[in-house]
Amino acid sequence: MDSMEVNKGIAAVLVAGITFFLSGTVGTILIQEHHLAKPAIKIDIPQTAPSGAPAAPQLTPIAPLLAKADPAAGEADTKKLGCVACHTFTEGGKAGIGPNLYGVVGGPHAHMQGFEYSAALKAKKGPWTFDELNEWLHQPSAYAPGTKMTFAGIKNDKERADVIDYLHTLAAKPEALPSPTEAPPPAAAAAAPAGASPAGEPPVETLLASADPKLGEADTKKLGCIACHTFTDGGKAGIGPNLYGVVGGPHAHMKGFEYSAALKSKQGPWTYDELYQWLKKPSAYAPGTKMTFVGIPDPKERTDVIAYLRSLSPNPEPLPAKK
Ligand code: HEC
Ligand code: HEC
Repeated sequence: MDSMEVNKGIAAVLVAGITFFLSGTVGTILIQEHHLAKPAIKIDIPQTAPSGAPAAPQLTPIAPLLAKADPAAGEADTKKLGCVACHTFTEGGKAGIGPNLYGVVGGPHAHMQGFEYSAALKAKKGPWTFDELNEWLHQPSAYAPGTKMTFAGIKNDKERADVIDYLHTLAAKPEALPSPTEAPPPAAAAAAPAGASPAGEPPVETLLASADPKLGEADTKKLGCIACHTFTDGGKAGIGPNLYGVVGGPHAHMKGFEYSAALKSKQGPWTYDELYQWLKKPSAYAPGTKMTFVGIPDPKERTDVIAYLRSLSPNPEPLPAKK
């Protein structure tokens, strides 16, 4: 045995030892987190309790937390929490079980070239914002059901913000931190159902309760939807797909219509909330969409149209419970 081989032997033992140590650590973390985990809260479902009682807990907005966060503590947390078992953080660092994380903040979802991401993460559009990282790291499996990242999440707000603050330093030109005043004040955040759209719009379920499908039908003519869409059962596609049965149907619901990748990549059924976002501004809901229509800015008009779309079915979807 020459000294080279002795070195290799020692290295192999060391690697085995480290791997064993890390898998032990990760295992412990996963198990501990599991015990700590609260019953899953689906944060996109409005949870407002009746008659002004405090709303069910929501994820704390990240902006004010980031204002007080400490990237050095965050770096230490990535070791303590075991992120380092799966991720590297330096520029050009290799993938391990997880992708390298340099430049992830503000980069696209699934940002590392060549890494085999899950379909769940690849389907996410747009850049990783601070808000999205907040949700993701709180509970990866809730943010991206089917993700390959088998990590329970960071439930502690301070720890999560520290880690995000650290990730944000891993760039030649770090993204600007969000202004803490941009976040809604706690009172407003508690009053608005979590499913409400931003910018003070009334939630779709409130408006739907008084929406008028007849007006909605008239609006599809006035607004020009009928130039591209048909609405009857079995109607042909035009520039756009037939819309019969779209409410509660899957995204890109018409068989044989050539949808954009942007719309095809959306998962799950068309909910009222999603139609409300989509029709507000298609290009914002699904960047790259083929529907060249600016949107319906007026919430009342938009919900009338949704109420009309809902009626295009032998069994219209139930209206959402009024909040
Ligand atoms: C057991 C291994 C493992 C652990 C522990 C882990 N991750 Fe991950 N991480 C992954 C994998 C695998 C992916 C890719 C997920 C997918 O494709 O669905 C990922 C993806 C990510 C992404 C998205 C990357 C991108 O390019 O879009 C971020 C950010 C991230 N992890 C941060 C963290 C942080 C911070 C921690 C610690 C708090 C952590 N991860 C702990 C395995 C892990
Ligand atoms: C200029 C043509 C055009 C106009 C005007 C238009 N659309 Fe569309 N619409 C499309 C196209 C094209 C698609 C497919 C989009 C894609 O694949 O990204 C689409 C998709 C849709 C979808 C999703 C269908 C599915 O199967 O997932 C809905 C819902 C919809 N449009 C409703 C409307 C309504 C309501 C209006 C009027 C307020 C309207 N559209 C105006 C062309 C148009």
